[in-house]
Amino acid sequence: MTFKSLKITRPDDWHVHLREGNLLKAVINHSTRVNQRCIVMPNLNDPITTTLKGIDYIKKINLLSNNNFSPLLPCYLTEDLDLIDFSKGLDENIFIGAKLYPNEATTNSKYGISSTEKIYPALEILEKKDKILLIHGEKVDSEIDIFDREKYYIDQELSLIRKTFPNLRIVLEHVSSKYGAEYVNYSPNIAGTITPHHMMLTKKDVFLDKSINPHHFCMPVVKNEEDLIALRNFATSGNKKFFLGTDSAPHPIEFKVPNLKSKPGIFSAPCSIEIYASIFDEEKSLDNLEKFCSINGPKFYKLPVNADQIELIEERWTVPEYTIHQEIKIKNFMGGKELNWKLKA
Ligand code: NCD
Ligand code: ZN
Repeated sequence: MTFKSLKITRPDDWHVHLREGNLLKAVINHSTRVNQRCIVMPNLNDPITTTLKGIDYIKKINLLSNNNFSPLLPCYLTEDLDLIDFSKGLDENIFIGAKLYPNEATTNSKYGISSTEKIYPALEILEKKDKILLIHGEKVDSEIDIFDREKYYIDQELSLIRKTFPNLRIVLEHVSSKYGAEYVNYSPNIAGTITPHHMMLTKKDVFLDKSINPHHFCMPVVKNEEDLIALRNFATSGNKKFFLGTDSAPHPIEFKVPNLKSKPGIFSAPCSIEIYASIFDEEKSLDNLEKFCSINGPKFYKLPVNADQIELIEERWTVPEYTIHQEIKIKNFMGGKELNWKLKA
């Protein structure tokens, strides 16, 4: 038997939730074991809306990680953001850009945006300084089907943002639909991150007869097979507009209940790089894995590509069921299942 092995430039994760306190302690090593840089999401219980909070959060992460690891932080946009402080945070590289959460779209988004026009001054600052706007692209409206939120956000909000700020560079986060991926592909100045789970699951894996599987429940919700196929095709094609963003989003198991009150979020960090490798292998595109994981992201963010490499080997292993730290217990995505690729320690 011949086993394959593959060396690629060290990856970065352009969208991950590291949380804080004991939860941060429980999960951080799963992200630092592979990535040089992570864009750490600012949707803490007390969201990162000021430079002071940003400095404090980065410090907490740095205390728990090795010297080679760099957390990158976008500012959480609110309608009453202090724009002087925001500008300073961008100038001093405390913030890599800003994250737009539509109000009540996902975990800790209650301070998010109800009226996009109210944040036009912040978007103008981002455009002028050539800093990235990261968008959770879902339109939340009781009239709109949960599976159509991405499409409506693109048609009703994102297209207007792009028309108003044509030079603003945008990442459409965790692209979840064929419609969204095609939009990213043909629109200038936009890139998209793609998660492992949106290339693994469809709505049948979440919505069961009378309940849901909370461990497959995330925002945006996973969609149909044609969406999954489109995301696989764009990710594995080498197309420079798409890159790695796991959206690994841990919640302790007590918040994962089998109905729509469950907190949304899938914790994939213990095996995300291994899932990506397996997907690229299945799609006969291992040649393009490095572009997706390690090249396209830094190019879009105008940052240097990492200098060292990681090695992935073709070896069957079983993903542990849980991540446990003190009183915290989190279900791992793919926990108990076998994968064909493994990170060489
Ligand atoms: C994320 C979380 O839990 O913070 N949840 C999720 O379902 N992806 C937030 C987010 O990125 O939407
Ligand atoms: Zn996220």
